[in-house]
Parts: sequence; structure tokens; C-alpha cells
Amino acid sequence: MVHAFPEGFVWGTATAAHQVEGDNTHCDFWLLEHTPGTMFKEPSGDACDQWHRYADDIALLAELGFGSYRLSIEWARIEPEEGHFSRAALEHYRRVLGTCHDHGLSTCVTFHHFTSPLWVSADGGWESERTAERFARYCDRATRSLGDLVDRGCTLNEPNLPVSLAHAGVLPTGGLKHVPFVVEAARRCGADAEHFAPFLVGDPYRVRDVMLAAHERGREAMREAGAPFPVGVTLAMQEGQAVPGGEEHLARWKRENFEPFLELARDDDFIGVQTYSRNRFGPEGQLPPEEGVPVLIMGYEYWPQALEATVRYAAEATSVPVVVTENGIGTDDDEQRVAYYREALSALVRCMQDGIDVRGYYAWSLLDNYEWIHGYGPRFGIVSVDRETQARTPKKSARLLGEVARSNAFDPASFA
Ligand code: BGC
Repeated sequence: MVHAFPEGFVWGTATAAHQVEGDNTHCDFWLLEHTPGTMFKEPSGDACDQWHRYADDIALLAELGFGSYRLSIEWARIEPEEGHFSRAALEHYRRVLGTCHDHGLSTCVTFHHFTSPLWVSADGGWESERTAERFARYCDRATRSLGDLVDRGCTLNEPNLPVSLAHAGVLPTGGLKHVPFVVEAARRCGADAEHFAPFLVGDPYRVRDVMLAAHERGREAMREAGAPFPVGVTLAMQEGQAVPGGEEHLARWKRENFEPFLELARDDDFIGVQTYSRNRFGPEGQLPPEEGVPVLIMGYEYWPQALEATVRYAAEATSVPVVVTENGIGTDDDEQRVAYYREALSALVRCMQDGIDVRGYYAWSLLDNYEWIHGYGPRFGIVSVDRETQARTPKKSARLLGEVARSNAFDPASFA
């Protein structure tokens, strides 16, 4: 059965600057990637060279049938030193966003997607209240320069991720500040190791609180700068389930990880839901993947139906419109990706049939790109990228999703 989506529903794909642009040398992650003993499997290097190839990528996105592009602008390029705003970088992003509009694509712009200017992280980073103020100043400047070309604005990408990773036992209590390569990175940038706090390095709970403040101030700065676009935040949301005895852990996970942000989002214009899998909790806390459920290269379960629970939860908790700002799968098997999107879009349809106000859907990701500490191993793209030549080749999933976008209708039977 074919499901038609409401007129104006937005279909797009998403990327983040550091993962695709290449040579993002003024940011904190660049230093972390290049410090001896690093946890990063490989440095980001040229990434997908989108800094130079953006016009081709945007043309391809439009040609595939999509109507929107979610991308991030890089604070470290726009403000490489405190108070020095690069007109050239802002002009570059004006060209990128303008190219989207030239191709009939709307733009969804994330102002911070994990990476920060090195000077920010070296001076207290995401553990310091000052970063919220500095972020707001950057939001003000970027909105004044680019706002007329932005159709939707996201302040921060997944500010709840550090707490989420702490629950999963991936981030130690207190964060990564005392890990030797991080101490060495702090030394290399002349920072005191106690005050070197990039996102994912600083104390997860402290980072969460500074990010809550940054979201609020960033939103205010955008609105005061006359943002003509809706503003929201995007959250890392997994479906949460408890087996008997795990209810308290599940409740705590929701309380610490989502509730503070969902609460703030009630004053936003939308909530960005980003879903990949599910988390289960038992009496001892988060459980490993369940037997019989396939495990993906990222270490979590293949669980496309998670989108239904997360969209419902976000809508109910905030009462603002939902935009699925990321959803996808890291796999080398595009048939598995096609099956994943079939299940995920079916879940989305169920939510919308129940009257939930969902305004758009962005597949993560347009390109096979730099997957942070995992390097170029996991492939989330619907378009593959040849690491030698940078040649782009759309996969079957790109054609199918593009067709959904073009027709604004989804037929599960075609995703076979
Ligand atoms: C992030 C992306 C990342 C994706 C896949 C999200 O948490 O926003 O940057 O590549 O998940 O792991």
C-alpha cells in the first residue's frame, strides 16, 4: 500500500561539516585525531573534500529527488580565533546554502555538530559556562550573515550524547580528560589538562548542563538576530526498553539523558529526533544486544523500528512538531540498508497516521563519511565515496529514498 505524505513534508539527507568537508584544522578534534596514542582509528584528513565539491554533492542530492539538505556550519572555520570571524568562511557557507536554493533544496543548518574551535576547548570547553556565551555570540554572527539562506536551524547536534555514552559505559565517569592522549593533546595546545574539555572529552554531566545553557542562549541569539527560520535542538534518541528489574535504570536513563532537553524544547519551534537503534536495561543497567538480534558494525542492534518509539516520545514530551533529523544504518550491505529504511519509514507512517505532527525526514547520511573514532570503517552513506578518487556513486538506497522524496509517497513494497 502506498502512503502519501502531507504536502510540504520535507525529505532530505544529512551530513556534518567535520565528517565531510576535510582539513578542518582549527578544531579540537583535529588535534585529538593527530595526538600520539589517539583513540581515533584514523584522522579525518580530506574527508569527502566537500569543502571543494559541495556544488556537485548538492546537484546530486537534487537529481536524486530530495528536497532538502541538512548540513552543519563549522564554528572553528567561522571563528578560528576568539573574536576573529572569517568573512571568507561565512562567504563560503553563503555559496553552499545559495547552491542548495539554486537547486530547489531547502536548508537545515546545524550550528554545532561535535567539533569546536580549539581555542574554545582549550579554555574550559564544554565544561565552562563561558562556552555557552561564546556559542551564543557565534550564533548571533552566523545568523546575521547566513540567516536569509537558512530554512531551519539546529543549535546543537546531540548534546545528550555524552550522558548517553556514560550510561552505556562507553565514557568513564568524569569523561576522558585523564586519558594519556588527551592530556598530551592539552599540552600540545598549551591548555591545562583540567580545563581542556572538547565535546565527548569533558565530564558528561557538566557538558550536558553547559550545553543546555548553550542551546537556550544560542536560540535566543538567533531569534534576536532576526532568525527568519524555526529553531530547535537535535537529540540522540534510542528506543528504551526494560526487562524485569531494569525499570529503574530505564527511568534514570530517560531522566538524565532526555528530560532536561525535552523540557527546554517545549519553547523551541521543533524537536529533532535522531535514531539508530534501541537500548535495553536490566537490573544491572544497560544490557548488551539481545541474542538473535543482528549486531551492526557500530556494536548496537539492527533495530529500525526504534524510530516509532522515539518519535512518539519526543512529540508527547514536547508538544512541538517533530523533524527526524537523522536516521540510518552503518553497513556495507546496501540491501540491509534498504530493508532498514523500509522498516523505519513504515514506523514513521504509523506515527503520522496517529496524527503526530512530523514535518520532515533526513536520512543519515548522504555520503560514506568520517565516522569519528571509528574512522572511515562504518559506512552510513546512501552514496558511496571512493577514498582514492573521491568519486561519488549512488547506491540503490539513494535511488529508492530519492523516489520517495520526489513522489512524497512511500510504498514499502518498492523497498525490496
Ligand atoms: C551523529 C553523526 C554520526 C551518526 C552515526 C549521530 O550520532 O550525529 O555525526 O555519524 O550518529 O553514528
